[in-house]
Order: sequence, then C-alpha cells, then structure tokens
Amino acid sequence: MKFKKNLYGKNVFVTGASSGIGRACALMFAKNGCSVTGVSRNTEERTESFKGGGSLTLKRLDVTDEAAVKEFVDELPGVDIAILCAGMGVAGAAETTDSELTRKQMEVNYFGTINAAQPCLTRMRSQGKGLLLVIGSIAGRVSIPMQSQYSASKYALEAFTDAVRMEMKQYGVRASIIEPGDTKTGFTAAREMQTRDRSAYGNTLEKSVAKMAADEQGGRSPESVAKVALALAGRKDPPARVPVGLEYKALMQILRIMPDRAKEAILSKMYLPK
Ligand SMILES: NC(=O)c1ccc[n+]([C@@H]2O[C@H](COP(=O)([O-])OP(=O)(O)OC[C@H]3O[C@@H](n4cnc5c(N)ncnc54)[C@H](OP(=O)(O)O)[C@@H]3O)[C@@H](O)[C@H]2O)c1
Repeated sequence: MKFKKNLYGKNVFVTGASSGIGRACALMFAKNGCSVTGVSRNTEERTESFKGGGSLTLKRLDVTDEAAVKEFVDELPGVDIAILCAGMGVAGAAETTDSELTRKQMEVNYFGTINAAQPCLTRMRSQGKGLLLVIGSIAGRVSIPMQSQYSASKYALEAFTDAVRMEMKQYGVRASIIEPGDTKTGFTAAREMQTRDRSAYGNTLEKSVAKMAADEQGGRSPESVAKVALALAGRKDPPARVPVGLEYKALMQILRIMPDRAKEAILSKMYLPK
C-alpha cells in the first residue's frame, strides 16, 4: 500500500519492530520513503534501504528501561511519527494473576509505551508537529475474561492517548489509538499464562487461551494494522480511536449501545468455555 499523503514528516520511530504489527508498520513506512528507526529487545542491528529512498534501521532497546529509551529518542535525528507497538499478553484468572506477572504486563504495555511516548512528544511539541500512534486493542474497549491484566493495560493506554490528544492539539501534535482485534503475529506464542492457584477454574483457563490462540492465528494480517497507521499519517485531524477492520468497527458500534449484561453474556460464552 502507498501513502496518499504524509502530513507529518519522514522520520518514523517504531517500538516492537522485530515482529508482527511493529515490523509490518516499520516496513510499510520505509517502503513509502520514510526513514524508520525500529526497536525491540531481540534483533540483529542493521539498516536496510528501499527503493524510493526509504530505510529501516533496527536497534536493540528495551522499552521498560526508561532512561535508555529517553537517551535513545533524544539522539534520533528527528521524530515526526511515533508508532508504539511493543507489547505482550498475560492470561490468567483475575483472582489469581500474581503481582509479578501483573507488574510485567503493566511495565511492558503501559509504562513501556509511556517511556517511549514522552520523549517523542517533547520532540514533536518543540517542532510544532507530530503524530503519536499507540497500538491499543479491542481488549482496551471491552474487558476479556481470563485477560484482565492485559485488558487493564490497554484501557490505560486509551486514557493516556485521549489526554495527550487534548493537551497537545495546541502544539500541532496529534494522537490516535489503533485498536486491532485478532491478528496473526508472534503475540500468541509470546503470551504468558498464570498457572498458579487456578484449581477453582478447572481447565477453563487452558480452554480460554486455546480459543484466544485459535482466533489470533486465524485473524487479520499485521499489514492490515500497518495500513491503518499509514492512512492516519495522511489525516490532519485523525480520529481518536480506530478499530482495525469493518467487522471490529461494527462490533464496537453494537457493543456501545448494548446493555452491559448482554455484552458480558456474549464475552463469557466466548472466553469462559465449559
Ligand atoms: N496480535 C494480536 O492479536 C493483537 C491484537 C490487539 C493488539 N495487539 C497489540 O499489538 C502490539 C504488537 O503485538 P504483535 O501482535 O505484533 O505481537 P508480536 O509479534 O509478539 O510483537 C511484539 C513486539 O514487541 C516487542 N517487545 C516486547 N517486549 C518488549 C520490550 N520490553 N521492549 C521492546 N520491545 C518489546 C517484541 O520484540 P522483542 O521480543 O524482540 O523485544 C516484538 O517486536 C502489542 O501491543 C499487542 O498488545 C495485538
């Protein structure tokens, strides 16, 4: 897919660029002439050039290391668009997911995103323009049983991104949260499951995780998310939140008007299999 237009500039920073959605975003922007710097913990450091003048430089960086992320972003030649994808999923019953796994979930998905967003926003404010794209999730709009902490981390990103959008509009900085549904990436294999003290739930957790895994691996391509990011770079006033795909856009509209009881009955049927 090609840019219709890019209103923000060619310097693009992507977290979680070694795999899945981050990798697809990094490649799509680089193939559209942008100078992309992509980071993740486990990657071979290298630069690839593309026809049309774009490039993708991959660097090792752990988004949970606040000081290292700030130093890294401060030294980038420019940050016009930041696409914050680094994340992972924790599955477990809300009752028994322990504080270690809960903190890990928040450290990566929430604090890791904030660590990357803040220095990018400072650069964007000082240059008077910029676009922050946060990768949220449909699970940041409806809480998924057996994924309470994952959902909480994504709800938190919705709140953060909404506040950024309001605070930074006056400085020419725009912010949107992209909400993928099931997407076929390395996310499924990287999921961590809380297995301690789960006897009260029998094998519900395993069945629920198997359902999540099957849905994800049968889901959309990571490129479908990258296309949304590319389209948002051409919007002067991008929407606050964008579910990826017509089916998820429609689902969000339906869930908005559905009573909580009905919504929860559907989600329970899907994710709490007997
Ligand atoms: N797949 C889905 O169904 C789905 C649905 C909705 C939302 N999402 C969201 O999409 C985002 C991208 O996930 P994905 O589906 O593309 O999964 P993925 O293929 O597993 O990619 C996750 C990326 O995050 C990086 N990462 C993880 N921890 C990191 C850390 N501490 N520091 C730096 N990078 C880190 C990983 O690289 P390293 O391991 O090399 O660090 C990898 O590049 C996540 O925020 C996820 O919550 C995914």
